[in-house]
Order: sequence, then structure tokens, then C-alpha cells
Amino acid sequence: MRIAVYPGSFDPFTNGHKDILERALVIFDKVIIAVVRNPGKKPLFTLSERVEIIRQSIEESNRVHIDSFDGLLVNFMKSHRSNVLVKGLRAVSDFEFEFQMALMNRKIDPAIETIFLMTSAEYAFLSSSRVREIAALGGPVSCFVSPFAEAKLKEKTCTKKPRGEIVEKE
Ligand code: PNS
Repeated sequence: MRIAVYPGSFDPFTNGHKDILERALVIFDKVIIAVVRNPGKKPLFTLSERVEIIRQSIEESNRVHIDSFDGLLVNFMKSHRSNVLVKGLRAVSDFEFEFQMALMNRKIDPAIETIFLMTSAEYAFLSSSRVREIAALGGPVSCFVSPFAEAKLKEKTCTKKPRGEIVEKE
């Protein structure tokens, strides 16, 4: 059984992530989506919210498993008996960071291989951070994320004052 791990912060999971997942499922028997508990930056969504958004954004299948991890990704992979990492590449700008990560992971564990899947052209510009920004500014995100994620983004951001609001002087 060919098992791949698709890691990320998924804050939130976008249609671009879903595209990569679907491509990975053509190659692998099973894909484990590994949601990092504490991404470098403070996430907008909690771990359980990020996991729930993924669950509601993909078709249920016994070939996809959603899990979370703390610490080194290679340790998570070992415990799930996988040595293949799947990452999405959107543009040349992603390459340097991903190249570093792939080589570091292989240095830590020489058995690890990283496979890069090219995103569909329509998602080449899409990132979770752009989606968060558009949502925070009250813009439309329905073509970037699932309806569930869209609703969660609205919930998170509606309590915030719209930025750039003009406050009239008395
Ligand atoms: O979606 P992201 O934020 O680009 O995902 C980054 C992620 C989670 C894949 C990366 O930060 C990671 O692997 N974190 C786990 C810690 C680790 O193993 N670090 C060493 C990798 S060189």
C-alpha cells in the first residue's frame, strides 16, 4: 500500500489544497493530511477548526485520513509508516523554501522522499494567507474555499471592525 503524507498548516484548507490532494490520490493508495498543531505564525483557526474545515471540504473516503502532529514531521511519518511527502508547488517563489525543507527532511531521515505536484493554473495565485486577508477585509472568498470554510471565515472575521473604515471627526 502506497501511503503519502500531505503536511501543512491549512489555515484554512483551500481549493488549491484540495486540488493537490486529488492529484496525490491518483498516485497513492492513501493520503494522510497532516495538520501541524503549532505553525510558525499564530493561526487564525484552532487545530480542531482547521481539521473540521478539511473534513467538511473534502469527499469522505477511506483513502484519506486527517491527522495532526507536533514536533518533527519525519517522526510523524515514521509512526504512520510512510516515507513519501507530498507538497504543492504554485510558482518559482515556492521553490526555494520547499527545496530547503525537502533536503532538510531527507538529511534528518534519508528514507524520506518529497514529491512536488504542480497546482492547477487557476490556483497558482491562491494561498491561505491571501484568503484570510480578503475575508478580513469583507471580500468574497467563495471561489477559493468550500462553503463551510467560507462560513467559518465569516464567523471569525465578522466581529472585527472592517479595516480602512473612515471615522468622521465630531
Ligand atoms: O502549510 P505550511 O505552513 O507551508 O506547512 C509547513 C510544514 C507544516 C510542512 C512545516 O512547517 C513542517 O514540516 N513543520 C514540522 C516541523 C519540522 O519537521 N521541521 C523540520 C522541517 S525541515
